[in-house]
Amino acid sequence: MARHFLTLLDLSPTELQAVIERACELKALQLKDELYAPFTNKTLAMLFDKSSTRTRVSFETGMAQFGGHALFLSSKDTQLGRGEPVEDTARVLSRMVDIVMIRTFEHATVERYAANSDIPVINGLTDLYHPCQLLADMQTWYQYRGSIAGATVTWIGDGNNMCHSYINAAKQLGFKLNIGCPEGYSPDSAIVASAGTQVEIFHNAEDAARNADLIVTDVWASMGQEEEQKLREKAFSKFQVNSRLMQQANSDALFMHCLPAHRDEEVSTEVLEGPQSVVWDEAGNRLHAQKALIEFLLLAQ
Ligand code: CP
Ligand code: NVA
Repeated sequence: MARHFLTLLDLSPTELQAVIERACELKALQLKDELYAPFTNKTLAMLFDKSSTRTRVSFETGMAQFGGHALFLSSKDTQLGRGEPVEDTARVLSRMVDIVMIRTFEHATVERYAANSDIPVINGLTDLYHPCQLLADMQTWYQYRGSIAGATVTWIGDGNNMCHSYINAAKQLGFKLNIGCPEGYSPDSAIVASAGTQVEIFHNAEDAARNADLIVTDVWASMGQEEEQKLREKAFSKFQVNSRLMQQANSDALFMHCLPAHRDEEVSTEVLEGPQSVVWDEAGNRLHAQKALIEFLLLAQ
């Protein structure tokens, strides 16, 4: 049976920690320009229903560095876009490629795909979760600060896919998560409940940010919510991460954002480009964290 990575809960806490540490080793090998190509003849199919820069480039480059190959498949150009069921696509691709990554809208689509796939399936973002980004975020924290267990992380903004994956990470890696969001934009209540007392919701950004070791935010309107942009700009106006908000956090707090960022909307330019921001390393770690994930899933078969 293939192992899948649809959410952070698909790996045990021990396995997640091993992937994070392996990502650091693979990064060191790559920085030394050492060849490590264990997956020659292996192919990753990447199915995209939404735009991407980081996810596409990191997966494609990761497979190239491993000696393998990656196929970029946009729903606009495949039969999926003309209505071929994901169940049929999953059974066909299982006979041709070795591993699949999907970026789509409904989370149920990746679940239906995985249920019909003999090969590992990776969630490259759905409306509900973005677990690959959390691997990179957690690797970045680990490289700057060591273990995240017992730390206080603050999520500011929308209770969206990234926020849901942060809730899963809090549960799996043992940190406290404060969520500061406007009323009406809270994360899914069942996902919050699954993390018990480790997650606390605030409808005031300052209260959420107090004593944080890490502040994280994301765009106010995610892909698929473009028509709500103006409405959301009003609703989120008191939830910008700026220098004033960062002062509520601990003095050595880090700032992360999955990117792309909207400067002077959800984050001020000063914070994004400032000394506490680790967003460029965070983005770069997508490559190494996902290589560790691919290796884990291919070797787990
Ligand atoms: N953070 C992230 O997933 O970026 P892309 O949308 O560019 O892939
Ligand atoms: N929440 C954002 C993340 C983009 C990487 C979105 O879904 O558009």
